[in-house]
Amino acid sequence: MAQGQRISELELSEARLKETEKALKERQVFIESIIEGIAEPVTVINSNCEITLLNKAARQFLFGDAPPVKSLFCYACHHGKETRCDGIEIDCPTQIACESRQPVRVVHEHFRFDGEKRFLEITSSPLWSKEGTFQGIIEIARDITANKQAEEKINSLASIIETLPDALCSIDLEGNIISWNEGAEQMLGYKIEEIMGKPIAMLIPEELVQSELDHCINLLNTGGSFTGYESVRIAKNGKIVPVEMTAVAIKDRQQKIVSYASIMRDISERKKLEEQLLHAQKMEAVGQLAGGIAHDFNNILSAILGYASILQMKMKEDDPLRINVEQILTSSENAANLTKSLLTFSRKQVMNLRNVHINDIIMRIETLLLRTIGEDIELKTILADTDLMVMADSGQIELVLMNLCTNARDAMPNGGILTIKAERAALGEENIRAYSYGKPGDYALISVADTGLGMDEKTRERIFEPFFTTKGIGKGTGLGLSIVYGIIEQHDGYINVYSEEREGTTFKIYLPAVESVSERTRQSEITAPKGGAETILVAEDDAGVRELTKNVLEEFGYTVVEAVDGEDAIKAFIENRDSISLLILDVLMPKKNGVEVYEEIMKIRPEMKTIFTSGYTKDLIFKKGILEEGLNFLMKPILPTELLKKVREEIDKK
Ligand SMILES: Nc1ncnc2c1ncn2[C@@H]1O[C@H](COP(=O)(O)OP(=O)(O)OP(=O)(O)O)[C@@H](O)[C@H]1O
Ligand SMILES: [Mg+2]
Repeated sequence: MAQGQRISELELSEARLKETEKALKERQVFIESIIEGIAEPVTVINSNCEITLLNKAARQFLFGDAPPVKSLFCYACHHGKETRCDGIEIDCPTQIACESRQPVRVVHEHFRFDGEKRFLEITSSPLWSKEGTFQGIIEIARDITANKQAEEKINSLASIIETLPDALCSIDLEGNIISWNEGAEQMLGYKIEEIMGKPIAMLIPEELVQSELDHCINLLNTGGSFTGYESVRIAKNGKIVPVEMTAVAIKDRQQKIVSYASIMRDISERKKLEEQLLHAQKMEAVGQLAGGIAHDFNNILSAILGYASILQMKMKEDDPLRINVEQILTSSENAANLTKSLLTFSRKQVMNLRNVHINDIIMRIETLLLRTIGEDIELKTILADTDLMVMADSGQIELVLMNLCTNARDAMPNGGILTIKAERAALGEENIRAYSYGKPGDYALISVADTGLGMDEKTRERIFEPFFTTKGIGKGTGLGLSIVYGIIEQHDGYINVYSEEREGTTFKIYLPAVESVSERTRQSEITAPKGGAETILVAEDDAGVRELTKNVLEEFGYTVVEAVDGEDAIKAFIENRDSISLLILDVLMPKKNGVEVYEEIMKIRPEMKTIFTSGYTKDLIFKKGILEEGLNFLMKPILPTELLKKVREEIDKK
């Protein structure tokens, strides 16, 4: 019995042991299957750096479908090294956890079995036995490659935005600024910390705020975006910056608008160029119009002036009607001056270009001004070095300076200082880039500065337009500066103006400097017109002008053969070939132009003397290749004295 009892106790404890063993085994299998089933790679490493366990995910990561390598060291497997890590050279979590006996978490780059680089977040924790002895490290890795790539994308986008030269700014639904890049800081001067959370309205001029915000928000709410919207923004220093904007509405997943973002580009430079171009185009158009009218008007004036002067010549000294003729002459001369001004502005005036000393012109102007500017204005003149010369029509440049000085005088009703300064100036590439005009080279720079009322920007923009004046009716015609502009253009020069309200005005004129020559130009003498008895062929299609020319010439003893167009001229010449001493040919005539007539006649009489006339400038005619340089030319309206002088000179030429 006792023995039987002992046996059954033994069996019982054996059975219990088996059960416990079984339970333990089951538990181990259970734990192993948990570890095996964890979707993230789990590795156990002993204190000798040997990998003692790899779960399925870890094996898959390291070996793919190939069987795992037996006896593997972590340094070889993870870092491709031959000896264990020293913890400094590589931020190795195994080594750190080993040394510190504390759990650590690092993000590491690892190469997968197929060579692909993955980012793993590895948590390495020390593994302790029940008795508290250190057993090694257990590591769980999480593949965060997708997060990392997204993060990198965001970072690179952020750095693009940050370094963008354009200003990027976004606002919340209340209109408060919620992002601001470096471009915005550069453009408008506010640092991000100064502007975050502030209303966008503070950057928009007060009068525009409501309408602009309403308009833009409406566009964004309905269309989601817009581009190319032009507006202005106020910089921190108060400057108004013209901008071009592109904006989008930012939506959340539910397609609800949560904020608005805009990119602004500073278009100051473009605006400046556009304005310059517009100004140039406007001046060109006005010039053409003015020139066109003046040209036709000249033909009419020629007739009025010519007949009135014939009338005057024929009248007796004491004729009571003489005063009327004189009135006609004065008025027509005024009208002729006006057309001359318009022609000057439209660059259709004939220039008498010579090498002139800038200082001579300034000195002549000084003498004139001293008499006219009044006592309360102090005149200062500063001359250039003595050999500074320009190729210019000195009469025209004097006119320029007189116009500028008259304006300066008018701008200083209570007196002030008027300074005229001439100097040599070199325009280099950098000046030219700054002003966006000009050819590099040596220039004579004449500045005319006053300490008067100055101008606001609106006035300054328009001063060169013909008939623009701020002076009262009857006080200014508004032609002064347009003449200045035309003359300077025709001299291949440049003019610009610096002016602030109440701060005075400075005009700067650049004329191309020429090599100095020692010989001074002689002034031509004025001689009284002489007549003659020769026969002259006058070919002119404008009946008024033809009639006038004929009358003037006949008045002074010449015989005139008339022709109304090119073919008529050739016919008339052939009929009178032996008696004709001189041809006066209008350049532009119907049927055959003046030059064609000239060429045909040259075949018959190669030594025939000829004077061409035209209402267009020599420049234009030469440019169009109608007339060759060196031929005689008179520009309409032709004064009788001028005509007679030229005719005599030509006939007398050997
Ligand atoms: N030095 C200056 N200071 C201030 N304003 C000026 C000056 N020069 C020109 N202006 C402005 O430019 C305008 C145009 O000048 P411009 O010489 O063309 O015509 P005007 O002087 O008004 O008339 P006009 O010269 O035909 O008698 C002037 O009316 C004036 O407003
Ligand atoms: Mg003026």
